[in-house]
Amino acid sequence: MQSGKPSLILAIETSCDETAAAVVRDGREVLSNIVASQTDIHRRFGGVVPEIASRKHVEQITVIVEEALRSADVSRGDIDAVAVTQGPGLVGSLLVGISAAKALALALDVPLIGTHHIAGHIYANRLVGEIVYPALALVVSGGHTELVLLPEEGVFRIIGQTRDDAVGEAYDKVARALRFPYPGGPHIDRLAADADDCIEMPRAWLEPDSFDFSFSGLKTAVLSEVNRAVMRGEVPMFAALARGFQESVVDVLTGKTMRAARVFGVKQVLLCGGVAANRGLRSRMRELCGEAGLPLLIPPMDLCTDNAAMIAAAADLKWRRGQFTPLDMHAEPLMPLEDWSVRAG
Ligand code: KG4
Ligand code: ZN
Repeated sequence: MQSGKPSLILAIETSCDETAAAVVRDGREVLSNIVASQTDIHRRFGGVVPEIASRKHVEQITVIVEEALRSADVSRGDIDAVAVTQGPGLVGSLLVGISAAKALALALDVPLIGTHHIAGHIYANRLVGEIVYPALALVVSGGHTELVLLPEEGVFRIIGQTRDDAVGEAYDKVARALRFPYPGGPHIDRLAADADDCIEMPRAWLEPDSFDFSFSGLKTAVLSEVNRAVMRGEVPMFAALARGFQESVVDVLTGKTMRAARVFGVKQVLLCGGVAANRGLRSRMRELCGEAGLPLLIPPMDLCTDNAAMIAAAADLKWRRGQFTPLDMHAEPLMPLEDWSVRAG
């Protein structure tokens, strides 16, 4: 244990289309959090193009790391460890961050901490409050939809996950059908909030005892409604469809989370990932946790979407236990979350 000693972690995140670097003290105090988004570049292709993403990371990474150090007002010599997203993510994108992190760790002679991207999303919550265990995290992003039980600090158990599309992916595909640019989640969120009407959509509850999710049927139902209207020569009711879609998603996500919270007797609920920026989801979750008397943590918007401060927050778990990563580590595009749990002892 490195207990007692404050840590200053420099973290790098390049798993998808954001080039990000941050400096965080003790896994909870954000000194800087710099994010360069490539969304404008990928928008005209309707989604992330992996080859373009890694090239952009190469162009940006040095500048972003410099900026993170400068705006944290720390020098290289103050850094205790370098953390980097090891996976999951796009292999070419991960590699850029990993190469930079290895070079920095070697040059500064400090430990390297390969970090799990989803552990990062979950521990973004530690940047806003104290986590109480056992806790239950609902992870909703462009690539993931998971219910994760944390029986104790740094230990992850997946109790439910999507069987097809991730929820953010479903948002982006539905948004495309409703003529919105990538990434479509925020557009659907806004449209749903302003809608006067609602076209009722199906809810995929799956087996009664299952904590898994499925969003492809819902996505197809929205696309069919759009096609039907177009074939009849009518303008689809975009706002009512967006509201119907969002209500179905929010109902199922919050319904399963609250049931899992009861079944596993958790003391706190954590919401995280890019889709946690969704206003409908945030407010329904607050309402239900309030009624159940369960404390709820939700990071602010800029800590919900991909960033490096969350990677430092998760890496701090390993720093405090002296669990470091060898410099010959590789990118792990399909890295399993449970295996990243802290080692006992
Ligand atoms: O976590 P994230 O930044 O990247 C991944 O690791 O995937 O999540 C990005 C996803 C995109 O699918 C985007 O459409 C969705 O988060 N998103 C939203 C909202 N803001 C971002 N979805 C619904 N409502 C929002 N307000
Ligand atoms: Zn993410």
